[in-house]
Amino acid sequence: MPYRPMPFSLETERLTLRLWDETDAAGYRALVGERSGEMPTLDEAREEIRGARESAPGRGIHLLTLRRRGTDDFLGYCGLVIGRATIDEPELAYELLRSAHGHGYATEAAAAIVDAARDTGRTRLWSTVRAWNAPSFRVLEKIGFRRDHTTTDEHGDVVWSVLDL
Ligand SMILES: CC(C)(COP(=O)(O)OP(=O)(O)OC[C@H]1O[C@@H](n2cnc3c(N)ncnc32)[C@H](O)[C@@H]1OP(=O)(O)O)[C@@H](O)C(=O)NCCC(=O)NCCS
Repeated sequence: MPYRPMPFSLETERLTLRLWDETDAAGYRALVGERSGEMPTLDEAREEIRGARESAPGRGIHLLTLRRRGTDDFLGYCGLVIGRATIDEPELAYELLRSAHGHGYATEAAAAIVDAARDTGRTRLWSTVRAWNAPSFRVLEKIGFRRDHTTTDEHGDVVWSVLDL
């Protein structure tokens, strides 16, 4: 692979970012429940987390869980995924539990992930966001992304934003 791997843990002023482990299963279930109204079972959550841990080293990019420094409370995740984009120019992704919204955590974590992405040797990141998602656009704006183009899928418009690293 022509890129250096992303680290498995990072620290910011207020947050610890680290790879998923099985103790995140309850937090993961809550996150999916808030998003979709349907919680995965504990076994399904553990299986998902196992998959994420196993695939991370080979791919070199991954999602990291977020915690307040010095605490064990799962807040959500932030990281890089192929998503709708590519391994060379991956997508920035983030999702936080509702109870953690509004403190600047997504912006703080995303800024650290952008720095980590630059350190891998990549030169461009994308983000794809549904047109209605104002908080997500605001996070992207705060860390320097600009809107580039819009595509449409069966659920509606997807706005592509780009950041040259
Ligand atoms: C998007 C998300 C990660 C933001 O997390 P967060 O930690 O609250 O984000 P931050 O506090 O860093 O920044 C949010 C910004 O959006 C602003 N904002 C919040 N609601 C808003 C709204 N309805 N309209 C416009 N701006 C809004 C906030 O004021 C803040 O901007 P500011 O710092 O200029 O005041 C969170 O809302 C989330 O998890 N949503 C569900 C999952 C999701 O949509 N993920 C992104 C998929 S592409």
